[in-house]
Amino acid sequence: MKKFFKWLFIGLLVAFVVIQFIRIDKSVPEYDKQGDFVAVNSSDPEGAALLKSACYDCHSYESKYPWYAEIAPVSWWVGHHIEEGREHVNFSLWATYSAEDKAEIIEESVEEIEEGKMPDPNYVKMHAEAEMTEANKTVLINYLQSLSGQLPVNGESHPEDEEDDD
Ligand code: HEC
Repeated sequence: MKKFFKWLFIGLLVAFVVIQFIRIDKSVPEYDKQGDFVAVNSSDPEGAALLKSACYDCHSYESKYPWYAEIAPVSWWVGHHIEEGREHVNFSLWATYSAEDKAEIIEESVEEIEEGKMPDPNYVKMHAEAEMTEANKTVLINYLQSLSGQLPVNGESHPEDEEDDD
């Protein structure tokens, strides 16, 4: 039995070393940095800083990888999370989204922040700087919504409405 555990331990150790060779892909494609949400919406540096610290690791091409993201299998988990986050919302590609998509992303982001679902609570445990106080939530939400004046959010500012006014 002692021998069994010795070989089990050695086997696990070898497996751990071998999986380190399976690296995650951290490369990002070429994209227009002028079209980034923060670049487009640069009037509020405080809000922009909060969006970057709370959301950009998973929802942009500017992800910062923590040291433990170098170690498999944690790295696979982190890499998968970032991939999935970018699929839903990628603030780096802001200018490429349609007006409807932009409005929807802002609306959903505000909801997720209000409900405390974003930033992901597990992520916040490892990233104290992403912790959302009530004051930070207000600043970030105002910042996100500061773009919505230019967007057809909640049926406002539709061209048809303007015609009705005439
Ligand atoms: C740790 C990574 C991570 C962070 C940090 C993070 N998100 Fe997400 N986000 C995800 C993932 C993964 C999904 C897709 C799965 C899900 O909905 O949980 C997602 C989904 C979303 C969605 C789409 C929800 C839906 O119903 O389709 C929105 C909007 C969003 N995030 C906004 C934000 C905002 C705003 C922040 C910052 C305040 C943020 N996220 C921070 C990982 C993250």
